[in-house]
Amino acid sequence: MLFTAFSNTRLKTKNRIAMAPMTRSRTSQPGDVPNEMMAVYYKQRANAGLVVTEGAPISAVGRGYSMTPGIYTQAHIDGWKKVTTAIHDEGSKVFIQLWHVGRRSHSSISGEQPLAPSAIKVPDQVFGPLPEGGFGMIETEQPKAMSQRDIDNTIADFVQAAKNAMEAGFDGVEIHAAHGYLFDTFMRLESNQRDDQYGGSQENRMRFMLDTLKAVADEIGGDKVAVRVSPHVTEGFVDEDAEIIQVMLTAFEKIAPMNLAYLHFSENISRHVEASESFRQQVREVYPNPIMVAGKLTKATAQELLDKNYADLVAFGTPYVTNPDLVERFKHNWPLTGFDADARLTLYGGGEEGYIDYPEYRA
Ligand code: PHB
Repeated sequence: MLFTAFSNTRLKTKNRIAMAPMTRSRTSQPGDVPNEMMAVYYKQRANAGLVVTEGAPISAVGRGYSMTPGIYTQAHIDGWKKVTTAIHDEGSKVFIQLWHVGRRSHSSISGEQPLAPSAIKVPDQVFGPLPEGGFGMIETEQPKAMSQRDIDNTIADFVQAAKNAMEAGFDGVEIHAAHGYLFDTFMRLESNQRDDQYGGSQENRMRFMLDTLKAVADEIGGDKVAVRVSPHVTEGFVDEDAEIIQVMLTAFEKIAPMNLAYLHFSENISRHVEASESFRQQVREVYPNPIMVAGKLTKATAQELLDKNYADLVAFGTPYVTNPDLVERFKHNWPLTGFDADARLTLYGGGEEGYIDYPEYRA
């Protein structure tokens, strides 16, 4: 089933394979602008039926990593047009991941104090300017608890970013609600100690994400909106959250009537936490619409998820870094190039090396 087209009223893709979103930090400076080299990188990988771009900050304050491509200036929109055209030329679809990192930032990257549900910082590092010059990992900054006005402004920023994405030629937007970033911190007790309508009860903690999804869907159409979550991942938190699974299952029930393009699960960032079979069944019971799963999948495990109807689309991240022709390699059972220490060194920042110079397989 991996290679058969996916088609429903919301989304049509030439196969079931997606390229997962991955930060590569190779924009043109100044201004964090998407460029021709990025278009080449994505075009090489547009054998995937659906490409999800690296996270694109929706605003300056939503930025947590230097040199990631924004979607909030005209230069960003014009730069992204090169990428969407290149992917469409290959007959594939492309969604842009809309990103607000919340507290996982520092004012030397975001320009102002990072925003969070509550003024709580945990030990954490992000990619930014080093005091001694150059870029590297720096400790995050104490965040500011968001006011109602901050929340309203952020929803408006997401809506504007989605409109910008439509202008740039994207087929849709994926709202990043995973990995300890803004919406994830609102959903978890450890980071959300608010006593207003966005904190306390489970319904209150999921409100900001749901309101944002609805506002964006109202603007560009639910079929052009997706959301990424990571209930099993503790990235950006100290502890696991005893209620997060229930919070998310309830959220999926509420999201289902919005008829989104897909619901995307991430199961592997710094640590792989595969969801249980019973969780996947519970999700299917409350969520009848398209589901995408990402996280350390192989051809075999991806196929199994499709066969069991736990996923409609399967996403691959690091395999796409080193195997631009991943779909062809799967089709012919050709060997994959591993994601080794060298690949890791050239993941963030730099030029063509380790970015657009991975060859296609030659028998
Ligand atoms: C990363 O750059 O390592 C990164 C970025 C965004 C994510 C996860 C990881 O959602």
